[in-house]
Amino acid sequence: MEIVEFYEVTKKYGRVEALRNASFKIPGKSVTALLGPNGAGKTTSMKLIMGFSKPTRGKVLVWGLEPWRREDLRIRLGYLPERPIYPLDAVVEDLLFHLAKLRGLGKSEVERVIKLTGLGDYRESKIGSLSRGYMQRLGIAQSLLGEPELLVLDEPTANLDPAARREVLELLKTLHKELNVSMIISSHIIPELQEIANYAVFIDRGVILDYGSLEDLWRKYRVEPLFIIETLDPGRVAKQLVEKPFVNAIRKLSPSKLEVLIDPENYKTFEKTVSELGELVLNYEFKSANLGDLYEKITRGRS
Ligand SMILES: Nc1ncnc2c1ncn2[C@@H]1O[C@H](COP(=O)(O)OP(=O)(O)OP(=O)(O)O)[C@@H](O)[C@H]1O
Ligand SMILES: [Mg+2]
Repeated sequence: MEIVEFYEVTKKYGRVEALRNASFKIPGKSVTALLGPNGAGKTTSMKLIMGFSKPTRGKVLVWGLEPWRREDLRIRLGYLPERPIYPLDAVVEDLLFHLAKLRGLGKSEVERVIKLTGLGDYRESKIGSLSRGYMQRLGIAQSLLGEPELLVLDEPTANLDPAARREVLELLKTLHKELNVSMIISSHIIPELQEIANYAVFIDRGVILDYGSLEDLWRKYRVEPLFIIETLDPGRVAKQLVEKPFVNAIRKLSPSKLEVLIDPENYKTFEKTVSELGELVLNYEFKSANLGDLYEKITRGRS
């Protein structure tokens, strides 16, 4: 069942078309990567989902309802803005208590989100003293208030150093697992959400390039995981592999090298198969499918 649907949505800011005829769907329980370069229309799309703005043309539906018309949807949504503004002098838990109160929630809900986001040691710290990574945890904590069914997180890893970035991604992964909450996460760094996302929407200059489950997109653009096999007898190896149901394609790269495309879910099985070929295989190399490769294929031939 779809939780978000865009039907030919155009959003204009004055003369700027931030979204043009954008149509896509996002299923429930997914972690969706909303990917595109700066100015693509990611924040615009998220604001439409949140109901902060209304489309110039077309229709946005969240759980089948139009968010800009329906205040009551807001309580089911959690939002991390692109550039959150917090009172730097305030204490972490005080801000959370305050935001909880605005939503009609009590202390126990604040305790819950502090625990979930690992903010315990910093609950009495001034917000201004937090590292960027912990600032982002605070942002994620407030987005979780009220047990939303869908989290809309606008570039949660932007402006973080690599270690903090990892931490935030790990946290989001854990939250998805523990809470079973749907997430839409934007990033202008295309490969970044690789590990956490299972669905993606690719957007550029207001236009939806493509969208779907990663599994479908890998197949569609033929960016399945790929093995390069070195062998003295490519013909024999190819013959043995071609029978396997998880092998999608085999190509000869050179007299001693084969390229093998396989089902993403089955690469472990494939490794086993290759090892069973024994001495026939001199060497093999695994190249995993990557969101960056996918994006490249999707954008190739466009623009
Ligand atoms: N309030 C606004 N007024 C005028 N133009 C706007 C406004 N908000 C966005 N835009 C324009 O709409 C386009 C899409 O902007 P948007 O913020 O949605 O992109 P984005 O994908 O979030 O980019 P970024 O990665 O930089 O955050 C850009 O050209 C931007 O300049
Ligand atoms: Mg943005």
